[in-house]
Amino acid sequence: RPRVLSGIQPTSDSFHLGNYLGAVRQWVALQDDFEAFYFIPDMHAITASFDPKTLAERTRLSVAQLLAVGVDPERSTIYVQSHIPEIAELTWVLSCITGFGEASRMTQFKDKSAKQGVDAAGVGLFTYPILMAADILAFQVDQVPVGEDQRQHLELTRDLAQRFNSRFGKVLKVPQAYIVKEFAKIYDLQNPTAKMSKSAETDKGLINLLDEPKKSAKKIRSAVTDTETEIRFDPENKPGVSNLLTIQSALSGTPVDVLVDKYQGKGYGDLKVETADVLAEFVTPLRGRVTEYMNDPAQLDVILARGAERARAVASATLESVYDKVGFLSPR
Ligand code: TYM
Repeated sequence: RPRVLSGIQPTSDSFHLGNYLGAVRQWVALQDDFEAFYFIPDMHAITASFDPKTLAERTRLSVAQLLAVGVDPERSTIYVQSHIPEIAELTWVLSCITGFGEASRMTQFKDKSAKQGVDAAGVGLFTYPILMAADILAFQVDQVPVGEDQRQHLELTRDLAQRFNSRFGKVLKVPQAYIVKEFAKIYDLQNPTAKMSKSAETDKGLINLLDEPKKSAKKIRSAVTDTETEIRFDPENKPGVSNLLTIQSALSGTPVDVLVDKYQGKGYGDLKVETADVLAEFVTPLRGRVTEYMNDPAQLDVILARGAERARAVASATLESVYDKVGFLSPR
């Protein structure tokens, strides 16, 4: 079976709607037809400021949320990045074939380092995309389901795989980004031309899955729209309304054009209230399941231990071939 792999950073207590609709929802669907590897990149999470206790808690919470949305540990391999030392080892080799200029062109680094001042940014933030390439290439994967903001990192990953293969011999599979166009970029409710993000200046436009549905309903009610009254899907001219339509459509399974027909003659208030209702229906049972998983840390540990074992078997085979190709002597 072809392989699929993806990760979500433990940098917040809750996944947000962009994480879920842009990526994690696809992970659940893909486990039927793919051999799936889903992981929590805790090593990526230390590239920005962090608190160790909170990091540990968020790593558990992330695993609990993956299970709660339907990632099945029987079918999918679920693991924590730092449990797989081969990933960091592969990162070193890949960093030696990455150009400094090439890494400097990563827009996410430019954005994030500009925010804190380039001198305050750690070298880990700079080499972050190479660690991400190692995450993927260690597992010889076919598809990587992510949101639009990860596209450039996937391009770098492909370039590095091709470069390694042509310099040292064909070892690494060249992966493809799996990006579902309609949901690849969910927008901030207050600033509907910017992506929904946990690092936005305020969290007023951010919908966290684990927040009280009432709190999210309030945010949806105050979502920025436009000065017209007509409900239609027009991302260019009506980004706020179109974003709400996308969200409601994704969560309800009703196609956007059916929703648009339904809302003829109705107002933005109706669209907002019903979007909030659909969200509440989705998150209410989800919140309950997350609490249950969090109350059973021993079960989470078993899942992660099994996941690490399966994942290491794959990653260590890749690393062995890579080391052999670059001329490292075998220790045995
Ligand atoms: P992260 O943790 O920021 O986000 C997890 C996933 O959510 C997607 N996403 C969005 N999709 C649509 N609309 C949005 N507003 C939105 N915001 C976030 C992201 O594209 C991502 O798919 N570098 C990665 C984590 C990572 C990874 C990997 C992913 C590390 N190694 C290897 C895939 C493969 C990141 O920071 O995602």
